[in-house]
Formats: sequence, C-alpha cells, structure tokens
Amino acid sequence: MRILVLNGPNLNLLGKREPEIYGSLSLETINSLLQRLAAELNVELECRQSNSESELINWLHNAAPETDAVVFNPGAFTHYSYALADAAAAISIPVVEVHLSNIYAREQFRRHSVISPVAAGQISGFGAESYLLGLRAAASLVKKEEK
Ligand code: DQA
Repeated sequence: MRILVLNGPNLNLLGKREPEIYGSLSLETINSLLQRLAAELNVELECRQSNSESELINWLHNAAPETDAVVFNPGAFTHYSYALADAAAAISIPVVEVHLSNIYAREQFRRHSVISPVAAGQISGFGAESYLLGLRAAASLVKKEEK
C-alpha cells in the first residue's frame, strides 16, 4: 500500500510558525514520526509540501494509480480553494483531511472547509497527532477497499 502526505502553504515553517497554535515540531520531525508509523503499518509513504496551489493540484491529479490514498493538510487553501476541492473530488482515491489546530475553535473564516465535503473524513485539533491519526485512517480505508 502506498500513501501520499501532502502539505499546503506555510506548513514548511512548522516549529517556527505560531508555535502556540501549531506546536513546536518541524515538518521534518512530523514526517519522520509518520515514516515510523508507516513502517509499522506496512505502508510505503511519501511526504511533500508546497506553497503553490497548482503544484498541489498536479500532485493530486497524478497520485493514482501508484498511490492508494492521500493525507492532506491544505493549510489556508482549506477555506477557499474550490480548485483543490475539485481536484480532490476528481480523483478515484480517498483523501483524508488533517489539521494541526481545531479549525472550528478559531477565527470565523477558518471554521469552514471547502475540502471536507469531498474528503473521506477530517481530523482536526490534535497537533502532530492529527497526521498520525490521518495516516491510520487512510491505511484502514485502503485495507477495507482491498477486501
Ligand atoms: C491549518 C489550519 C489553517 O487554517 C491554516 O491556514 C494552516 C494550518 C492547520 O493545520 O491547523 O495553515 O491547516
């Protein structure tokens, strides 16, 4: 099984960026925690980050057939990118949306996700753990589909 983790804008700054909201772990550290869990789950994992909407769209388009599911933190694009929502809807593999912060407990504009209606599910508010829960959710979805 192969899973792709995609991170959107500003997530390259994790660890330095508003640590009181997003925590003190860098994206690199989160990625190594993910790789450790992936090894336990027998998942081949690739983690990518981009600040560019078009690059994220292309990565979603090109994910299948090699990739079985995507764990996706779209960053601020979560709240307004219909282009990313369309891309997530267009592909045949499940997309699990994750957020470090609880977006429903924050500013009004963050309380709406245009991605969640087309996602298999959403995990929000558990810091780096959101990614690990997202990976577990994606892996179990793929396993169920394989049965
Ligand atoms: C975020 C929440 C978004 O509102 C914000 O723009 C981010 C990070 C999160 O992981 O909590 O960049 O997606």
